[in-house]
Amino acid sequence: MGEGISGGTSAKPEVPYKPFFNRTLDRVWGAIDERLGTQKWPLRPQPDFSFQPGYWTGAFVATAFIFQVVSGILLLFYYVPSTQLATAGGIYPAGAPLAWGSTYYIIHTVPLGWFLLSTHLYGAYATIFLAFIHFFRGFYTGVYKKPREFTWMIGTLLLVSMLGMGFTGYLLPYTALSVGATDVGIVLTLAVPGGTTLAPLILGNATDQALLSRMFALHVVGIPLALAGLLGAHILLFETHGVAPRASSDPQAKRVITEEDDRKMGKFFPKVFLYMTKWALFYAGGLFLIVAIWPWQLPVFYGSSSAGGSSPEPDWYFLWLYKVMDFQGVTPIIAVGAVTLLILFVLFLPWIDRRPLTSTKTHPRDRPVLVIVGNFLAGLFLVLTVWGGVMPGVVIPTSMYATYLGSILLVNIVLVFAFYARYRAQYSRRLLKRGAEGNVAPK
Ligand code: HEM
Repeated sequence: MGEGISGGTSAKPEVPYKPFFNRTLDRVWGAIDERLGTQKWPLRPQPDFSFQPGYWTGAFVATAFIFQVVSGILLLFYYVPSTQLATAGGIYPAGAPLAWGSTYYIIHTVPLGWFLLSTHLYGAYATIFLAFIHFFRGFYTGVYKKPREFTWMIGTLLLVSMLGMGFTGYLLPYTALSVGATDVGIVLTLAVPGGTTLAPLILGNATDQALLSRMFALHVVGIPLALAGLLGAHILLFETHGVAPRASSDPQAKRVITEEDDRKMGKFFPKVFLYMTKWALFYAGGLFLIVAIWPWQLPVFYGSSSAGGSSPEPDWYFLWLYKVMDFQGVTPIIAVGAVTLLILFVLFLPWIDRRPLTSTKTHPRDRPVLVIVGNFLAGLFLVLTVWGGVMPGVVIPTSMYATYLGSILLVNIVLVFAFYARYRAQYSRRLLKRGAEGNVAPK
């Protein structure tokens, strides 16, 4: 590869990758590439079938996360993590906690500060939303099956950490809403077995400042470090196994792309890189547009006389949990127990989703039990979130929530099995027809 540029001769640089652009651009990129040596970088090429958004959901989450890191660092230049009240004559509104006052200052005084803060907040919503999409896509298409079990487990921890970022970040503007919601979350956290031992760690000397300092430290250093390590391991494993092939009805379908397959594909640079850049720009454009139309409005500060007695309200991704706390008979320990079981179920799903409980196939149409569980979880999340949004803090009697949740499950079971029975009947008919023609089982 180096001969093309050695000794200042007139030899033409060789294009060290498959031609991708037009002749001129290929030569320019070829010359740059000779100097960067991208062909030797350990980044996997991607098979042609994977150039559809469904195969890139993780990359979308990673893009949104990178955006959060950049906007978060910029916000750190101005934010003051203090509950002390600002005095008159300073740059922050007098009588308000500095954490709230510095947020107010970012929005009203820092050039484009309102834009920066809103993109960080809506970007957090987008990151968590995309992480749920990535999770459910993997759940329905069985990407966690061998050899991607550890990739899945690390992904579960990533999702929990992302939610931790949301929880700790929510307190930072120190609004009446966010302080109340954090208190509910702390009560739940302390309900875990051994929670009272954890209390001094989370609450410090039990002052408001001690809690804010801890949430701030976790949000800007503790959890980001954990996320960086987990994300590194997640992507390393992805690079090792490559993208999971299409979901299939064939139990023998291969689950890895071999190195031989790799050689037939386009390299990471420039094809994969440009594809990802296109989506990253699309994401940034969409986010900027939403922020420009609906910039975030800062609620009143904690301790303000105009705060009223509204019930604590978390961000949308925790509404479901807060609603569960409104269910009659559900104590913090029951809620925490249920969430712990849910996390353990997701974490060990690669080993739970085995015969005879379910199928070795990966296509959702062959795995009705898993589809029912997935639909139930998604349905529960949606219903509880809307319920929490429209009726926050309203106690729900046992008979009412049992009827609602039971109906979701029942309708789900009936629908999925109706589709499954229809699919099996069609499958049997095709099997008979193919058998009559030449004894080949349909895939
Ligand atoms: C929350 C932060 C997360 C980030 C930033 C992330 C990032 C990624 C990236 C970049 C990939 C490469 C393929 C792709 O673009 O889809 C990937 C693949 C994968 N992720 Fe995640 N992920 C996250 C969460 C999760 C979660 C919650 C799970 C499941 C519990 C998970 C399970 C997987 C699996 C099994 C693969 C391999 C899928 C395949 O080969 O198609 N990830 N992830």
